[in-house]
Amino acid sequence: MSTNPQNAYPIPPDHRGIIGRANVLRGKPVSSVAVLPMRPESTQVVPKVALDGISLSYKTNSKGRLIALENISLQVQPGEFLCIVGPSGCGKSTLLHLIAGLHQQSSGQVLVDGKAVSGPGTDRILIFQELGLFPWLTVGQNVEFGMKMKNISKAEREEKIQYYLRLVHLSKFRDSYTHQLSGGMRQRVALARALATEPDVLLMDEPFAALDAQTRDLLHDELERIWAETGRTIIFVTHNVREAVRLADRVALMTFRPGRVKQEFAIHLPRPRHIEETDVARTAREILDCLRDEINKSLEVEYADEKAK
Ligand SMILES: Nc1ncnc2c1ncn2[C@@H]1O[C@H](COP(=O)(O)OP(=O)(O)O)[C@@H](O)[C@H]1O
Ligand SMILES: [Mg+2]
Repeated sequence: MSTNPQNAYPIPPDHRGIIGRANVLRGKPVSSVAVLPMRPESTQVVPKVALDGISLSYKTNSKGRLIALENISLQVQPGEFLCIVGPSGCGKSTLLHLIAGLHQQSSGQVLVDGKAVSGPGTDRILIFQELGLFPWLTVGQNVEFGMKMKNISKAEREEKIQYYLRLVHLSKFRDSYTHQLSGGMRQRVALARALATEPDVLLMDEPFAALDAQTRDLLHDELERIWAETGRTIIFVTHNVREAVRLADRVALMTFRPGRVKQEFAIHLPRPRHIEETDVARTAREILDCLRDEINKSLEVEYADEKAK
């Protein structure tokens, strides 16, 4: 176990393989699974996603430049659940877009499996609040859509539609249209559609922010189960620190403008967790203490912008 002096929590080495994942939902903290490092000590694991000195600036209306991200270096291990938290406007979405290959950084490198990202790829998929489901297609057809784009055969598509709809508990709604579903069900369709293309990395941008608390809690349970079953790497952005502690192996906290990684926290609480648990609340409070300055800075900028209008 290595300890980064900047971190309030020790960061575990990459050690989670399938065995660790199998234990995830049995309530054992991963660090307690002694049999895990099954590879030779000398083998270095290539991170699934690595951000290496990323900076990005946007042109502003006043012909200046806004530095959205500055010198971000972050590694995400295969199968890890990383949450990124930070105040509104700190560059969380920008960071996900970079990893998705939808934006180009001004400097630095984004690597997936050790290879530089030069654009979108089927190994990564972005899921966001608006979902982007097609209202004229049924649930099943929505799930099938991404697979058609990947030229997957009809027989394989059929198998995967069934598998992923079962995984999100929506088999019975295969022939429904999305307007016939609740918000939480629509989120699960979006998740099934994303998973069906079998990306290695799920990039989730505040996906549950618009849902009511009960639906969100259910989706946390489902997402955790699906993550454990499918072995995907998840990078999940949220401004809700409790949600981050509920879900993550590790939480990266970003500063407000320019966005940098201020601190990382490894979360060793046993799974499954619940957002209302005392330990979750206590850990969230520690992270929130660290986040508070950044929230204050973002509010000051917001008020100043309001005054200037
Ligand atoms: N296309 C763009 N052009 C100019 N500025 C942008 C653009 N997209 C985002 N920004 C600015 O970059 C900063 C980071 O935005 P964003 O990544 O959306 O933050 P977050 O997701 O953390 O709220 C914000 O100040 C935002 O106004
Ligand atoms: Mg955002």
